Amino acid sequence: MLTRTVRIWDLPVRLTHWAFALIIPAMWFTGEEHMWDWHFRLGLLLLGLLVFRIIWGFLGTETARFASFVKGPTAVLRYLGGNHEDSATKGHNPLGALSVLALLAAMLVQVGLGLFSGDPYDGATGPLNPLVGVMTADTITELHEVFFYVVVALIAVHLAAIAFYTAIKKQKLVGAMITGSGEKAPGVPDNTPAPWGRALVSLIIAFAVVAWVWAGAPPLA
Ligand code: HEM
Repeated sequence: MLTRTVRIWDLPVRLTHWAFALIIPAMWFTGEEHMWDWHFRLGLLLLGLLVFRIIWGFLGTETARFASFVKGPTAVLRYLGGNHEDSATKGHNPLGALSVLALLAAMLVQVGLGLFSGDPYDGATGPLNPLVGVMTADTITELHEVFFYVVVALIAVHLAAIAFYTAIKKQKLVGAMITGSGEKAPGVPDNTPAPWGRALVSLIIAFAVVAWVWAGAPPLA
C-alpha cells in the first residue's frame, strides 16, 4: 500500500511518555531501597508531568487532545468488532484511548496516595501527610503499596498491546512515539502544529501545582 510519512505525536506527548516509562521503574526502585529523598523528588516530578499531560490533553495538538481520541462505547465496540475506520487516521485508536486514560488515572491515583503516605513517628512522610491522621495515613500507605500492582498490571497490558500491534499488525508504533512520525495512507493529514504558548501555560500551571503540594497544600486565600 502507498504511504507517506505523517506527523503524529507532538514533542510534549513524547517527552512525557518516555519520562513516565523511566520514572515508574525508578519510583519502584527508590521505594524498595528506601531512598526517600529521590522517591519524593521523582514523585513530585511525576505529579508535574501528569498535571502537564492532562492540561495538554485539552490545550495540545490534535492527537494529544482527549476530545479527539476518547470515544464512546459504541466506537470501542465497533473497533473491537473489526471496524477500524476510526483508526485509519492517526493517533490513538478507540480501544487504545481507554488504556491511555487508565494509565494516566492509575499513575495519578498512585502519586496522590503517595503524597499522604508515611508515618511521622517512624519514617519518611509525603508532603500532604500532616493533613490526615496517623491511622488514615497508615491505611493510605498500605493502599499505596497495593495499588502499585494495579499500575504494573496496566503497564503489562499496555506493553502486550504494543507488542501485538508491532509483531502481528506490523505497525511501527514505538518508532512513531520516538520520532513523532509514522507511515500512513496518503490522505491522512499531519498532526496540527504544537501551540507552544499553550505548552508554556500548561508547564507553568504544572509547576505551580507541584510547588503548592510540596509546600503542604497551604490555603490559597
Ligand atoms: C512505565 C511504563 C509506561 C507507561 C506508564 C506508559 C504510558 C503511556 C501513556 C499514558 C500513553 C499515552 C500517550 C499520550 O497520549 O500521552 C502511552 C502510549 C504509548 N506507549 Fe507507553 N508507557 C510505558 C512504557 C512504554 C514502553 C516501554 C513502550 C515501548 C516499548 C511504550 C510504547 C508506547 C507507544 C508506542 C504508545 C502510543 C500508542 C498508540 O499508538 O496509541 N510505552 N504510553
